[in-house]
Amino acid sequence: MTADPIEAVPSQRPALGFIGGGVMAEALIAAVTEGGLAAPGTILVGEVNEERRRVLRERHGVQVTADNLAAAAAELVVLAVKPQHLGAVLQQLHGRLPSDTLVVSIIAGARLQTLCEGLGHPLVVRAMPNTPARVRMAVTFWIASPGLGKPALLRVRSLLGALGTEVEVAAEAGVELATGLAGPMPAFVFLLIEAFIDAGVALGLPRDQATLATVESMRGSLELLHRTQESPAALRQQVTSPGGATLAGLKVLDSAGVREAMSAAVRAVHERALELGQLPVDPSKRG
Ligand SMILES: NC(=O)c1ccc[n+]([C@@H]2O[C@H](COP(=O)([O-])OP(=O)(O)OC[C@H]3O[C@@H](n4cnc5c(N)ncnc54)[C@H](OP(=O)(O)O)[C@@H]3O)[C@@H](O)[C@H]2O)c1
Repeated sequence: MTADPIEAVPSQRPALGFIGGGVMAEALIAAVTEGGLAAPGTILVGEVNEERRRVLRERHGVQVTADNLAAAAAELVVLAVKPQHLGAVLQQLHGRLPSDTLVVSIIAGARLQTLCEGLGHPLVVRAMPNTPARVRMAVTFWIASPGLGKPALLRVRSLLGALGTEVEVAAEAGVELATGLAGPMPAFVFLLIEAFIDAGVALGLPRDQATLATVESMRGSLELLHRTQESPAALRQQVTSPGGATLAGLKVLDSAGVREAMSAAVRAVHERALELGQLPVDPSKRG
């Protein structure tokens, strides 16, 4: 039987390697290829799941392999497996990365020290993008291990910049704190959208009109915030006349404790993320 040519070991060193080819890896692949940062043929994805390998190859034209070590030979390697598979991956790659390989981990909770020691490799970046990476509007907070020089930092900046906005933070706790807010934000926003659409329907609007009214007003409000650079409080006050209808609605939200609930939700995310980061990784499943 002849080998699948796309799964054959590439003749040249890949520019970009992925360990794990799931949802986030695919978002990154789409962003870097569509943004012209890397040609699909220069990307090699190490992925255990055969169906995912087929999908990535067909959708994005990237090279795929079941051999993580081949993908880890790339100039820049993105670790994109779930936290519970990290132990197996670290065991597999320990001491086997080319000395100049730059590693970017997007694995929630995985600390720089764990990654550097687990890989036996000093050039590691910890980054946390969020799901709007799929439309190149992520916000990614990141921090690099001390060994990275200026050119490596620039490469990281352009990779993460392809996903949307990137912010380098001075301390690792900053990655955890900021992503406690940015990570779940799409879920929080979608919950608000669902709730307002349902409220419009309950009032008597057809669902499509309730959806349009909610989504387009939200989009318009964000654009207004972005373009005017005024504070959210100032913009809110501009649509809240004394004794008016908007004020009546805001009073209901205030007395229901919406602000306190939001604060508690963000705190809960942060605490749970810290707990998950401390879970022992399961080295038995794969690698
Ligand atoms: N989704 C988000 O919003 C988000 C945001 C920021 C960061 N992250 C982080 O991104 C990482 C990936 O998340 P995801 O949502 O993309 O997960 P995912 O869709 O489950 O992707 C992970 C992929 O890696 C494969 N895999 C498992 N073990 C492997 C191994 N040893 N070698 C190679 N491939 C392996 C999985 O195959 P199987 O399915 O067969 O196990 C799966 O296809 C996570 O660590 C997460 O914390 C996620």
